[in-house]
Amino acid sequence: MTSGREKRWSLAGATALVTGGSKGIGRAIVEELAGFGARVHTCSRNAAELEECRRQWEEEELAVTVSVCDVSVRAAREKLMEMVRESFDGKLDILVNNAGQLFSKVARELTENSYWHLMETNLWSSFHLSQLAHPLLLNASICGGGSIINISSIAGSLGFPCFTLYSITKGGMNQLTRSLATE
Ligand SMILES: NC(=O)c1ccc[n+]([C@@H]2O[C@H](COP(=O)([O-])OP(=O)(O)OC[C@H]3O[C@@H](n4cnc5c(N)ncnc54)[C@H](OP(=O)(O)O)[C@@H]3O)[C@@H](O)[C@H]2O)c1
Repeated sequence: MTSGREKRWSLAGATALVTGGSKGIGRAIVEELAGFGARVHTCSRNAAELEECRRQWEEEELAVTVSVCDVSVRAAREKLMEMVRESFDGKLDILVNNAGQLFSKVARELTENSYWHLMETNLWSSFHLSQLAHPLLLNASICGGGSIINISSIAGSLGFPCFTLYSITKGGMNQLTRSLATE
């Protein structure tokens, strides 16, 4: 028999997209959401690692699907959201923008290429995926409406040596989160 407490925390019927779920924090989020009954889709760039995760999740009876996606590539983001739209019948309750990369280099050696690569990977991908997810989030029926969760960092609020680029992306993400919340 299910206790009131378990019911309160159930995500049965909810759908979620978690980027970068093959390891680390993203993987823990995938397993937590699926453990509470959500259907979860996740992605990363490494097909073999993803398949190994999928196999383990299947064994644990977690409802998780996977696809390869490099979130720094516009066409790949669009393909990912199209797949999510089809798999979840046009409805997404939770988007977790987790995929991100740490980049450590002294500021005077940073190049324009590394700037744009990290901006695209950590910040613009989260913004664009949020835009792409918007029509699906409007159809959310669980948890009081659609939610976007952005995985930021303390480096988005404080300065650390050699983390200038990473800090810019996470500071931008903090403002993205605040701004979208007002809309
Ligand atoms: N760990 C920390 O102490 C910490 C602290 C503060 C904030 N964070 C933030 O938390 C998030 C997760 O960090 P983590 O430590 O768990 O990282 P992690 O262990 O390196 O895992 C990152 C995940 O994202 C995927 N990923 C990386 N680049 C990607 C891309 N371009 N497209 C798609 N997937 C990509 C990775 O798989 P592939 O490499 O195979 O693609 C992996 O699944 C990041 O946004 C990070 O900035 C972490």
